[in-house]
Amino acid sequence: RTVTWDMSAAEKGGYEHFMIKEIMEQPRAIAQTIQPRIRDGQIVFEENGLTDDRLKKANHVHIIGCGSALHAGIVGQRVIETIGRVRCTARVASEFRYENPIVEPDDLCIVISQSGETADTLAAMRQAKEAGAFAIAIVNVVSSTIAREADGVLYTWAGPEISVATTKAYSAQLAALYLIAGRLAYARGKMNEEEQRAFCDQLQALPEMLEKMLECKQTMQYLATRYHNRSSVFFLGRGLDYAAAMEASLKLKEISYIHSEAYAAGELKHGTISLIEDGTLVVALATQPELYEKTVSNIREVTSRGAEVILIAGSDFSGDESACRHVVRLPECPALFSASLSIVPLQLLAYYVAVERSCDVDKPRNLAKSVTVE
Ligand code: G6P
Repeated sequence: RTVTWDMSAAEKGGYEHFMIKEIMEQPRAIAQTIQPRIRDGQIVFEENGLTDDRLKKANHVHIIGCGSALHAGIVGQRVIETIGRVRCTARVASEFRYENPIVEPDDLCIVISQSGETADTLAAMRQAKEAGAFAIAIVNVVSSTIAREADGVLYTWAGPEISVATTKAYSAQLAALYLIAGRLAYARGKMNEEEQRAFCDQLQALPEMLEKMLECKQTMQYLATRYHNRSSVFFLGRGLDYAAAMEASLKLKEISYIHSEAYAAGELKHGTISLIEDGTLVVALATQPELYEKTVSNIREVTSRGAEVILIAGSDFSGDESACRHVVRLPECPALFSASLSIVPLQLLAYYVAVERSCDVDKPRNLAKSVTVE
């Protein structure tokens, strides 16, 4: 008996698609990104020029990226402003130059790109550098153009990502942003040594929490069989949950071709709620304890108009769940890090919905892994 040996199946490590393999690789991707940057309870950057002095004197932190890299940046903006108390703005790279951003010498520009080759991101970085900003690149591909042209690089060690829809590189970008935010807060005196040690402990526990989060795989597969035939899906959240909702919505639309939108939960009532009708699927995220009650009232707004709600909830979610069809709980984790966990069930949902719809999961139509035209 001969064994037929399929090269592409071997590369997928027994998985049906690269995307699901890469989703499952996320705990390792973030562990590899975090590990080299933590020593004795301190976040260390050293060679990449991200000195405490530089982190301290920046008046404004600009974040630029496209697609999922931008979404990672939007999470980063919220984390940096929350713990670092410095102005931070995440912008679409292709819009950066047309928005006349005020960039000054000593500003910090965080450039995010998996491939390190995205033309819009590169152009925006060049402009920020010209204005005198220090450009630190969060890049996955070693020696890519953005890595070479940046003033310093903070590599994500996610390993090669084959699926066009990014998962593990996105998660590694979030990890890199948490590292920058933590050191920035420390450098600016918003976090003392002991607090930094605790922050590092929490960050180092993240891969294990992500491993636990992945246990919802079968639940998400089941939900995909129930909801894959919807024509429109809305993702709602506030704060960090809104940022995660944007990425969740992009994942679903890019690989399953279902129309989807991410909305700030409180903004829905100012127009978009007119689109909610019987059977509309709404995915609500509520992982920030101080926002639980507000999000619950937004859930009621949509269920009373016939929407069916899947809720992604923090471990200690205490709000009224009765209006929701399904609740997926995060493992216990500090609220600040929830964005790293809440995206996982939604990557899985997008994946299984696309599989149910027989889509070309790893190579969705009209999309490229890296876009080198402006
Ligand atoms: C393309 C991909 C997206 C990606 C974006 C930015 O549009 O399809 O998945 O997020 O480019 O790519 P980058 O390599 O700069 O992270």
